[in-house]
Amino acid sequence: MSAVVIANWKMHGSGSALSAFANQWQALSDQPLPNVDVVLCPPGVYAQRAQQLLPQLALGAQDCAPEAEGAYTGDISAPMLADLGCSWVIVGHSERRQGHGETDALVAQKARAAANAGLTAVVCVGESLEQRQGGSQEQVVSAQLQGSLQGLAAGEFVVAYEPIWAIGTGHTATPEQANSMHEHIRQTLVQLLGSRGSDIALLYGGSVKPDNAGELFACPNIDGALVGGASLMADSFYAIAKAASESGRT
Ligand code: PGA
Repeated sequence: MSAVVIANWKMHGSGSALSAFANQWQALSDQPLPNVDVVLCPPGVYAQRAQQLLPQLALGAQDCAPEAEGAYTGDISAPMLADLGCSWVIVGHSERRQGHGETDALVAQKARAAANAGLTAVVCVGESLEQRQGGSQEQVVSAQLQGSLQGLAAGEFVVAYEPIWAIGTGHTATPEQANSMHEHIRQTLVQLLGSRGSDIALLYGGSVKPDNAGELFACPNIDGALVGGASLMADSFYAIAKAASESGRT
């Protein structure tokens, strides 16, 4: 399976920042990066412009509604994202689970809506610092997977493991911690989906940077990354995508 590297811009950026990113990206990437899917998830209002400026990157969204259409003020549905040219959508990011009260059941509905619209859902899971310190991280993540993947089939999603204590903090999980959790996630996926659970890309997220990307991608169970802060600058995101491209996945 190819590696997958996803830029999650969260609520950052502007039209001019996007243009500067695109100019810098063009200057860096005179050759396509083999064996890696590179995805940009800007704030939705910049998606169309991102697609025009960076047609060589796949386009993704940071969230979608669980319904396809209706009286849901402020929401954007998965078919609308597909119509716009998105092929990926992040669901269940911890900032939405915590800040917007999203449950596993809601995340599963959103992921189902994404798959129905032909998008690949990036289903996020991850434990808090308290849960890790209490030693329950594997149970927490298994329960999130069971709840958030209800009704999904292999081929419709990838998983992003993002320990909450590593997001935006500069405290990356060590490659050993990340790889060991990814191994646990792999086993859980095989229990839930049978052998096809082995083919699902498992991304790590949480303070991924150019200087730690190579050692993370060298881990056998880490197939890519969901990148926040370091994806806002084209040079650092490009370096991470290049490290994934060179990680030996095909
Ligand atoms: P970070 O964010 O890379 O800034 O830690 C990752 C994420 O929240 O997706």
